[in-house]
Amino acid sequence: MRLGNDQLAQFDREGYLFFPGMFTREETRTLTDAVPELYSRREAYNVREKGKDAVRTNFAAHLYSEPFARLARHPRMIEPVEDLLGESLYMHQFKINGKQAFDGDVWQWHQDYGTWLNDDKMPAERAMNVAIFLDDVNDYNGPLMFIPGSHKRGVVDAKHDLTTTSYPLWTIDNGLIGQLVERAGGKHGGIVSPKGPAGSMILFHGCLVHASGSNLSPWNRVSVYLSLCAVSNHIRRFKRPEYIAHRDFTPITSLPDDCLLKDYPVELPWKDGMPASALETSTDELKMAA
Ligand code: SIN
Ligand code: MN
Repeated sequence: MRLGNDQLAQFDREGYLFFPGMFTREETRTLTDAVPELYSRREAYNVREKGKDAVRTNFAAHLYSEPFARLARHPRMIEPVEDLLGESLYMHQFKINGKQAFDGDVWQWHQDYGTWLNDDKMPAERAMNVAIFLDDVNDYNGPLMFIPGSHKRGVVDAKHDLTTTSYPLWTIDNGLIGQLVERAGGKHGGIVSPKGPAGSMILFHGCLVHASGSNLSPWNRVSVYLSLCAVSNHIRRFKRPEYIAHRDFTPITSLPDDCLLKDYPVELPWKDGMPASALETSTDELKMAA
């Protein structure tokens, strides 16, 4: 799937593009069906909600689950991001966020690129987020919220929040969020939250300010979040474990468009477990060839 000029202009203006129903129910079913078994694993790559057993986020499933390995190479997602960044891509991060019924906790206001810069030393904002809904997203199950156009501000001030939820995040203070929302239209469009059926897809800029509330509804809101980075813009520091911030900068090659319906062969390097090296971290910066 390639983007037209109107879509490129809209992305530039708003910082996101929403594609309701991009994948059919049949296409998302194998993904959704695989989630409970992945979440049941007692592994470091499953981060649970604070004080609860519910999974907040599962990392790196594309390295040990066949359906997710196929999704990670889906042309409906890879091609538009290649268009937006004008370069081959590698997978910087791959998450399946639970936002489970009754237990799904908040994601505070943040920019993803703030974390990629501060923690991973990613040189520029040349990385894109893709969200794919595995459940229907409605007003009640903690939909993602965006401040349209906030990506134009570049990286804004953030502080490292280690306590609010079980997952550390560089979060933005309420005063600045108030200003950004006001500038984006206040009560008239200053916050938007794309909602739609399972299979819907959102592309959003690494600097777009976003958040989501808790899920007090009886409906899960499982979504996949992929962060695709331009190969030349790969991270320069391995301060976070490899299952959170990937270190394999090989360009992604797309599979055929029907790859969620047919069993195309895929490599699963972590099928028998994560290598010990995936847990090793360092605060040194990579030495780049001159
Ligand atoms: C994220 O910002 O990475 C996740 C937000 C959400 O799942 O609502
Ligand atoms: Mn985020």
